[in-house]
Amino acid sequence: MSIEKEIAKRRTFAIISHPDAGKTTLTEKFLLFGGAIQTAGAVKQNKIRKTATSDFMEIEKQRGISVATSVMGFEYNGIRINILDTPGHKDFAEDTYRTLTAVDSVILVVDCVKGVEEQTEKLMEVCRMRKTPVIIFINKMDREGKNPVELLDELEEKLQINVRPLTWPISQGMNFKGVYNIYSGQLNLFESDQTRITENFIELQDINSPELDRWIPSSFTKQLREDVELIEGVYDPFTVENYRNGSLAPVFFGSAVNNFGIRELLHTFLDIAPSPSEREAMQRSVKASEPTMSGFVFKIHANLDPNHRDRTAFFKICSGTFQRNTFYFHTRLKKKLRFASPTQFMANEKNLIEDAWPGDVIGLYDNGNLKIGDTLTEGEELQFRGIPSFSPEIFKEVINRDPFKSKQLDKGVRQLTEEGVAQLFMQHGNRKIIGTVGELQFDVIRFRLEHEYGAKCDFMPLRYCKALWITSRDKDQYEEFLRRKSPVIALDKEEHPVFFAESEWMLKVAMENYPGVIFHETSEFK
Ligand code: G4P
Repeated sequence: MSIEKEIAKRRTFAIISHPDAGKTTLTEKFLLFGGAIQTAGAVKQNKIRKTATSDFMEIEKQRGISVATSVMGFEYNGIRINILDTPGHKDFAEDTYRTLTAVDSVILVVDCVKGVEEQTEKLMEVCRMRKTPVIIFINKMDREGKNPVELLDELEEKLQINVRPLTWPISQGMNFKGVYNIYSGQLNLFESDQTRITENFIELQDINSPELDRWIPSSFTKQLREDVELIEGVYDPFTVENYRNGSLAPVFFGSAVNNFGIRELLHTFLDIAPSPSEREAMQRSVKASEPTMSGFVFKIHANLDPNHRDRTAFFKICSGTFQRNTFYFHTRLKKKLRFASPTQFMANEKNLIEDAWPGDVIGLYDNGNLKIGDTLTEGEELQFRGIPSFSPEIFKEVINRDPFKSKQLDKGVRQLTEEGVAQLFMQHGNRKIIGTVGELQFDVIRFRLEHEYGAKCDFMPLRYCKALWITSRDKDQYEEFLRRKSPVIALDKEEHPVFFAESEWMLKVAMENYPGVIFHETSEFK
């Protein structure tokens, strides 16, 4: 098959949500539709089975949190769907942010009872930054939730995006009757069923036709007609173009656990979601249909099996065809690497592959050559953009508790931070400061240092609230800033200076006093 055809049949996306909104349930229903799994519950069971493979995963199991980001691929109606799973827990947000750099679109799940929650706002901020197309699925309509019109207002206000409902719920909770598809004019009646996909569609020519009253009680039809009139009057018409450029999010209503509203969501998603197109590198923009292979690493997972010190790098293909056992050029190390056993993740199993196309995510066995953000090509000097580090929120200094194991500690801290568990900043030679977005990361790092590297450490909290990457607008002033502020300056993994701010106020003062210094919120500012 030609590369254009392979690209056209691919959709690579992530389902994101605040924990408990229903991301796992929705993922599972998609897999059921695709025939990739046979029974509900398989994704969760798989999560638990996987947790048994290492001590690190034991933490995940104990806390019931999905730490790892995995990939699930399946085919549906001739389309190859790649779902990149993301941990919902806020302490692992950095992992989720990075995964979002590898997707072409996103489905955002919102719980109709809770509305827009904090984590949803942050995730949406990352999507907005990258202009990622977003579809919103309002879940748990079988529960008494917020009023749908108010929910739409809340989405627009808190997520700062224009929305356009494509389906509309007929009541909710105990009285939930179904959804009306504004787009196709179909009525989809609700039947609570968690095991089978039973959707009862009725084709309506006109929402004002008496046909509607045959199916749902008149007390609900009146409200539905009024609501639809209101929506048509208030919201701009839906256009695929506005969705694709990230300025308009279509909204669907349903109940994931009851398999309700999923088919419409999936079918519309397949119709409108973009295939891989192009991606910005530092040097130029790379089109997916270019014949030569290029791609980047967005995640590293180390020591999954404690008996083998192996690492899996998750590699997203951006252009050309990736082939097994072929030499590729590692643009950071300037050397050629060959991969004998690349793997792809189909539903709940991992398979060896011979080749892969743009949009696909493959696992590369790595013995220390690959870092997050690394680019592989067929020889061209390229470095893909859009895999930035974001400022951590919690900072702690690493204190070695076993002086005989300082080498192990250095190695462990370096490898774990390369994997993206946390960010490492070095100060005055060997002082290590670790920055994370959540406390949980420190437990994970301490646990893994001890179990995987035999090193023991403590963490001493530091009073910083933010790290900002700094560059110069005025050389003299920049150098004076570095000198004067040296106690709160450190180097990131690329040896770029960062400034630790103790408070937003202190940051403001520093900015006012040193206009010759530019402060950046992410590591990608070139
Ligand atoms: P997450 O991945 O976003 O964290 O959420 P997950 O799918 O695990 O769903 C969180 C809880 O919400 C689960 O219940 C799930 O069954 C429930 N849920 C998902 N969709 C719906 C829905 O449409 N309606 C209702 N009423 N509940 C829904 P749980 O009790 O935490 O887990 P479980 O024991 O049921 O699996």
